[in-house]
Amino acid sequence: MNFDFTEEQLMIQQAARDYAQRELIQDVLEREEKAEFPARHVKNLAELGFLGMMVSPEYDGAGMDSVSYVLALQEIAKVDASVAVIMSVNNSLVCYGLQRFANEEQKQKYLKPLARGEVIGAFLLSEPEAGSDATHQHAVAEDKGDYYLLNGTKNWITNASSASVYIVMAQTHPDKKSRGINAFIVDKNTPGITLGPHENKMGMRSSDTHSVMFSDVKVPKENRIGEDGFGFKFAMMVLEAGRIGIASQALGIATGAFERALAYSQERKAFGTEIFNHQSVAFKLSDMAVKIENARNLCLKAAWLKDNHQSITVAGAMAKQYAADIAMEVTTEAVQIHGGYGYVKEYHVERLMREAKLTQIYEGTSEIQKIIISRSLIKE
Ligand code: CAA
Repeated sequence: MNFDFTEEQLMIQQAARDYAQRELIQDVLEREEKAEFPARHVKNLAELGFLGMMVSPEYDGAGMDSVSYVLALQEIAKVDASVAVIMSVNNSLVCYGLQRFANEEQKQKYLKPLARGEVIGAFLLSEPEAGSDATHQHAVAEDKGDYYLLNGTKNWITNASSASVYIVMAQTHPDKKSRGINAFIVDKNTPGITLGPHENKMGMRSSDTHSVMFSDVKVPKENRIGEDGFGFKFAMMVLEAGRIGIASQALGIATGAFERALAYSQERKAFGTEIFNHQSVAFKLSDMAVKIENARNLCLKAAWLKDNHQSITVAGAMAKQYAADIAMEVTTEAVQIHGGYGYVKEYHVERLMREAKLTQIYEGTSEIQKIIISRSLIKE
């Protein structure tokens, strides 16, 4: 097995690290406090090619591989997980889905500006009563001949107000259950779309999250993705790729907290020596390092499988579940190592701990990942 990165992968990692350490760090605390969308950074990431990383140059993407994507996202999330989720949703849930499943006309019209990062997208699957239980879509898309009439509410939508393009899942044939669901590309400025208030979140506060209401929204027939009834499978396959993104984000959050705790442990003195010299602290750091290394291997393996056109269903679920769970553990220990300082904002680790929590919830909770993994054990 080859664990070396290519020169190009290392360059991409370095570019992401430089941007995060030079730019994102400057205003991350202020933006998080004000829950302010990082518009300037999104524009800069677009210029770096980080919003359409894996889209082929034919559709104005950067043509990078998924391993590079994991490395770059980890660097961004180490400093600012809100920016990382904006990047992840646009790359994995929106661009990936369109590149793989949209038709040529849809790609020309929607994928190209998304891949250039001129506009960003959002993925609308969750509903007030359909989060984990995603087949039970209440949003309906009635077939009216040359258009669909869309009605319903979507919840917890990342990029809801900043996105121009929505990928929306809705039920067209309720009797067919998951096989009756369709996925649509919807322009956000279509009449009949309204947004709920900005969600006042515990963490990831500068990514914008809203509910989105659709009232008699006309969606042209040509905006349906794939065959009639393909929408649920589309959503599941797109989410598989999305989970590699969120796993990398969780890995970045854990690494950011670990690096801060390691540095602090070598500066802070207690009982006459740097606290790293106390085994109670050193062993915590050792456990954190092992968990991060395992999560990193799972993320890279899933990305490698994707780059080699192999199934990522289980590998993506394992990476997402493990990385999210250890991000919560590692960030909690990082706060503990910082003691009282860990509980105040200036030291960043309390923010990283709040950010870690969401990685166990969105794009499939840790429990959903365990459903996917355990089902595969029997199938195998
Ligand atoms: N690939 C292709 N097809 C798939 C699939 C996959 N990975 N997973 C399921 N399917 C197909 C099944 O084969 C089945 O098809 P048939 O009817 O033809 O047999 C159909 O989809 C229904 O599948 P299941 O019977 O397995 O459905 P289920 O009700 O048991 O649910 C689940 C499966 C895995 C739990 C799924 O509901 C799930 O993933 N839930 C979590 C949803 C989720 O991740 N939401 C996140 C929202 S997005 C978000 O958070 C974005 C953001 O803004 C950050």
